[in-house]
Amino acid sequence: MCGIVGYIGRRQAYPILINGLKRLEYRGYDSAGIAIVTDQGIKVFKKKGKVSDLEAETKHLNIQGTIGIGHTRWATHGEPNDQNAHPHTSQNGLFTLIHNGIIENYNHLKKFLIEKGYTFKSDTDTEVLVNLIEYIYLEGETDAELAVRLALSKVIGAYAIVVLAENEPDKLIAARKSSPLVIGLGRNEYFIASDATPIVEHTDKVIYLNNDNIAILKEDELILKTLDNKKLKPDIQKIDFDIQAIEKNGFDHFMLKEIFEQPEALHNTMRGRIAPDFSSIRLGGLLDVMDKILNAKRLIIVGCGTSWHAGLVGEYLIENLARIPVEVEYGSEFRYRNPIIYKDDIVIAISQSGETADTLEAVKLAKEKGATVLGICNVVGSSIPRETHAGVYTHAGPEIGVASTKAFTAQVTVLTMMALMLGYEKEVLPYGRFKKLTQELYHIPEKLQKILDQNEYIKQLAEKYQTASNFLYLGRGYLYPVALEGALKLKEISYIHAEGYPAAEMKHGPIALIDENMPVVFLATKDKIYEKVISNIKEVKARHGKVIAIVTEGDEIASKLADHIIEIPEVPEELTPLLAVVPLQLLAYHAAVLRGNDVDQPRNLAKSVTVE
Ligand code: G6P
Repeated sequence: MCGIVGYIGRRQAYPILINGLKRLEYRGYDSAGIAIVTDQGIKVFKKKGKVSDLEAETKHLNIQGTIGIGHTRWATHGEPNDQNAHPHTSQNGLFTLIHNGIIENYNHLKKFLIEKGYTFKSDTDTEVLVNLIEYIYLEGETDAELAVRLALSKVIGAYAIVVLAENEPDKLIAARKSSPLVIGLGRNEYFIASDATPIVEHTDKVIYLNNDNIAILKEDELILKTLDNKKLKPDIQKIDFDIQAIEKNGFDHFMLKEIFEQPEALHNTMRGRIAPDFSSIRLGGLLDVMDKILNAKRLIIVGCGTSWHAGLVGEYLIENLARIPVEVEYGSEFRYRNPIIYKDDIVIAISQSGETADTLEAVKLAKEKGATVLGICNVVGSSIPRETHAGVYTHAGPEIGVASTKAFTAQVTVLTMMALMLGYEKEVLPYGRFKKLTQELYHIPEKLQKILDQNEYIKQLAEKYQTASNFLYLGRGYLYPVALEGALKLKEISYIHAEGYPAAEMKHGPIALIDENMPVVFLATKDKIYEKVISNIKEVKARHGKVIAIVTEGDEIASKLADHIIEIPEVPEELTPLLAVVPLQLLAYHAAVLRGNDVDQPRNLAKSVTVE
């Protein structure tokens, strides 16, 4: 989704902004633009397409200036084109602005401005905001900062903005509500961005702006205030990742790198949390609320996309191992359906980015209703961890590929640790079983590596099926959510239509689709319902479907029935999702590459969905 970058200091802004925009490409976007304060006033350059298109058009212009802003836009109001791209400049050229989020009352404000004589060049809500700032500035004879604050007091919606003022060209004015902004602190220079990725190569000192905060940045001065003008003391924090973590390190794509990083990522997720003798699991972020969790009558997990799939695995794990009832909901449904939430409910929000608008709003709703709210997030310091009462970071490292991979397995790892810990504490999981499962969990990274070693073979399978128009993914029990996740991965990046289904449900509908052109991916590892899945495979083969089966190493039954198998090491069934999803990630990746798609930035998708 939209990305923001800004610079003020002594260096040339142009290369810093272009480079920063490239770092933000992973968020998903369809146009890009920059504005730089030059000797001849503020100059704006913007264009539909990639940052490289913008760069190609502007590189030779030698744009000089040490203050500037840049934006990647993911279209919401108005199609992706040059006019709708940011930055937007007010009618009289006094303000230039970039914006993430949505101004919900923009129609009302636009009507008002039209009555006052304003005309609009774009379809965006952002142009309304920049004109409103200018209108207030001219009417009220205020300074730029006050005009921004007053304009924002009239706005309903979500925003992160950075503003340049023609008459006060020595500053950047930034503000946020429900859409993140991070300020990077350099020496006589400041950076600002929608997340830390464009900042890490310059500094590791950052300030996360809070809701309703405004920052006024000059070359050597930072003023932080609330929107109603109360001065704030900046809370300077250290970023916990370095530049290498956001580079491809020899891999063709971030997604492939992130798939291959999973052994290390999961190791980091478990680091310091599992006792060396496997006798205990300690999740430090939950200690204060442990009693509440143990006494809860139910847990409600909310999330979107892949994180929702992780939540489904969590439901199976927590209900089986800890015998606490669990409900799993999409953030977007939960927040609008007037859910019943009791004060002793525990709501767990799962989110890689920690910024997904629907999940964040679900968190706020649950808090309002008095529930205890926990977060399972990857991005440290993001909005959800800051809104929740307690939580657990996944520590998977930055995930840049839009299709989530290591974040999923890290979320499932956290949920597995939670389920084991809760089961043990509630005395429903015997110590012996707890210890055995904990030990097995700890060794998952090595087993995962064995699947990664089959990468070439999985690529060959992808070659065989990359021209298919449809795919079916079937699994049961713990592997039903994995079937959903496998289908989602394929859809997201290869654009092949794919459905995930509980294997037994196939006969209630999807079986009608099966013929010799339909590849069906079965998750058929040895578990309690293995025999049932075998019957489902037979049903597909009887209708000439092509079966790719994910099976336990050494399996002979499924292997004979299936057209192709991918073996995964044997683990207790509770841990199979952590392994079984990996071949599906690789299958989707290779299919997408073979089809010539932009794997890391698939069409229409955004990494961090900050609008509802
Ligand atoms: C977007 C991404 C998905 C992700 C979902 C939830 O749709 O493209 O990959 O699963 O958002 O994101 P979150 O950051 O909350 O996990």
